[in-house]
Amino acid sequence: MFLWLSLARKALQLEGKYVISFELNGSKVEVDVEPDTPLLWVVRDTLGLTGTKFGCGMGLCGACTVHLNGQPIRSCSMPISAISEQSITTIEGIGSDSALHPVQQAWIEESVPQCGYCQSGQIMSATALLQQNPTPSLQEIKYFMAGNICRCGTYPKIQKAILKAAAQLQSQNSFESESNISEFNNYELAQEVTS
Ligand code: FES
Ligand code: FES
Repeated sequence: MFLWLSLARKALQLEGKYVISFELNGSKVEVDVEPDTPLLWVVRDTLGLTGTKFGCGMGLCGACTVHLNGQPIRSCSMPISAISEQSITTIEGIGSDSALHPVQQAWIEESVPQCGYCQSGQIMSATALLQQNPTPSLQEIKYFMAGNICRCGTYPKIQKAILKAAAQLQSQNSFESESNISEFNNYELAQEVTS
């Protein structure tokens, strides 16, 4: 099977085509693009999923963040040839209208977005953080999210929403961490005192 796929791919390359297959939001996809095409272009222009945004195009702002095998990456600076047979998740793949991801739900409840442009990348980084560390402290959130730039400066709301989503996920999983939930409550209190 593997040999057949290799031969088929070789044949397509000889015809001037370069077909790359990978998993996108749980489904197998194949694209015929130049191997150095950035993943962001393939996701947005070739496959039509426009939730992932173009910001700097240089790996600096985080607007284009997606997951590669569960890890957050900058899709603007990742060539499609490096993605072959791997798993990509975009903002369209982490929840649905009828079943939002807890991070998305917290984003709505805390009215996080202002212009909204950076939010897809922010949410993808936040969901990756909570997969790696279900009980992040405020400092850990600030450190992990530091590469996602928001020109509207909505950082305090982003941090609060991540703490809320973490507390929500813990109660969903019945592994409640008093420290994390109290961190969220302390954050609420601090906001009230300073507002
Ligand atoms: S657009 Fe990719 S990091 Fe800015
Ligand atoms: S909400 Fe406007 S750039 Fe972040």
